[in-house]
Amino acid sequence: MSGTPPGAPGRTGPAAVITGIGSHLPPDVVTNEDLSARLDTSDEWIRSRTGIATRHMVSPGTATSDLAAEAGAGALDSAGGPRPDALVLATTTPDRPCPATAPEVAARLGLTGIAAFDISAVCTGFLYGLATAGGLIASGVAERVLLIAADAFTTIIDPLDRGTSVIFADGAGAMVLRAGAHDEPGAIGPTVLGSDGTLSDLIEVPAGGSRQRSSGIAAGPEDGWFRMRGRETYRHAVDRMTTASRQAVAAAGWTTEDVDRLAAHQANARILSTVAQELGIPAERRLSNIEYVGNTGAASVPLLLAHSAAEGFLLPGHRVLLTAFGGGLAWGASTVVWPDVKPG
Ligand code: COA
Repeated sequence: MSGTPPGAPGRTGPAAVITGIGSHLPPDVVTNEDLSARLDTSDEWIRSRTGIATRHMVSPGTATSDLAAEAGAGALDSAGGPRPDALVLATTTPDRPCPATAPEVAARLGLTGIAAFDISAVCTGFLYGLATAGGLIASGVAERVLLIAADAFTTIIDPLDRGTSVIFADGAGAMVLRAGAHDEPGAIGPTVLGSDGTLSDLIEVPAGGSRQRSSGIAAGPEDGWFRMRGRETYRHAVDRMTTASRQAVAAAGWTTEDVDRLAAHQANARILSTVAQELGIPAERRLSNIEYVGNTGAASVPLLLAHSAAEGFLLPGHRVLLTAFGGGLAWGASTVVWPDVKPG
């Protein structure tokens, strides 16, 4: 776990302020009935255990960069103004293992020449991305950052694994962050990040990295698929998001009663309601779109913010608590007073 998060007072450098937001879902929809037709599962099981009814999936030939470019274009439209100086892409499903996907996304958006790189923090990628964008802005490396979180998770899910096929899905969310003041709406508050690599095998893709390649042992057909030990993951997700949320709220000088909207990684509806209950945040203050998007990995939190703002559940002035958890293990939390931005 990270140490004490940096407190808002006395922070050096400008704040990262949200000035635009965008999102994208691939058009193909997969229902619980579609999954039940090919797997030993049911609509009733999936709804009651996960809260998911439908999810979106890329069509053959579509890659993460395609989703990222769409969401990025939306965020740039929403922000207007000068072009960003940096693009940060959080993803677990890059187009290729090498090079990073971000430069290609930048080129597709007409931003060739700017700093562009990927970060890998699985479902916490957006929170790590917010901290990274904040650091680029605070240090003066960039005035404006396009942060995109995109995952084509279904491309790494074993279609025969009912434990993961019913949960994970595809999508992208994006934000433009600009240099501004720490006390203005949209300024990202103190951000808490943590990790526990002793539990890295709870969520993994075993093959394709240097560990497997240097072993001299050929990967088995299933080793390239994503694996998750669901029940243990569940317990850690609740503990970590709850603790990180309390720390982020305290660092912002708030109490959990001050939170108008909880924007938590849409991992599983039961996890979300347990986290909210432990924090004492009532149901009407929880943002949720898991029913129709599933778990979209790094994209989950910005997709949730974009959808909630578009639907009128998230309004300018709302004090928002952001939190996420995922493979690594890695987790994070932060706060923001929602600004007056129109999702693009
Ligand atoms: N349909 C029907 N049965 C299923 C199933 C499915 N899709 N998936 C698992 N099962 C079965 C299991 O085989 C098991 O059967 P058994 O008792 O006969 O062995 C039973 O349901 C219970 O399995 P378990 O894995 O213990 O279920 P669960 O209540 O923990 O729910 C998850 C499974 C994956 C939904 C749940 O563990 C979860 O959401 N975990 C966290 C996932 C998460 O948030 N990951 C993302 C972090 S980013």
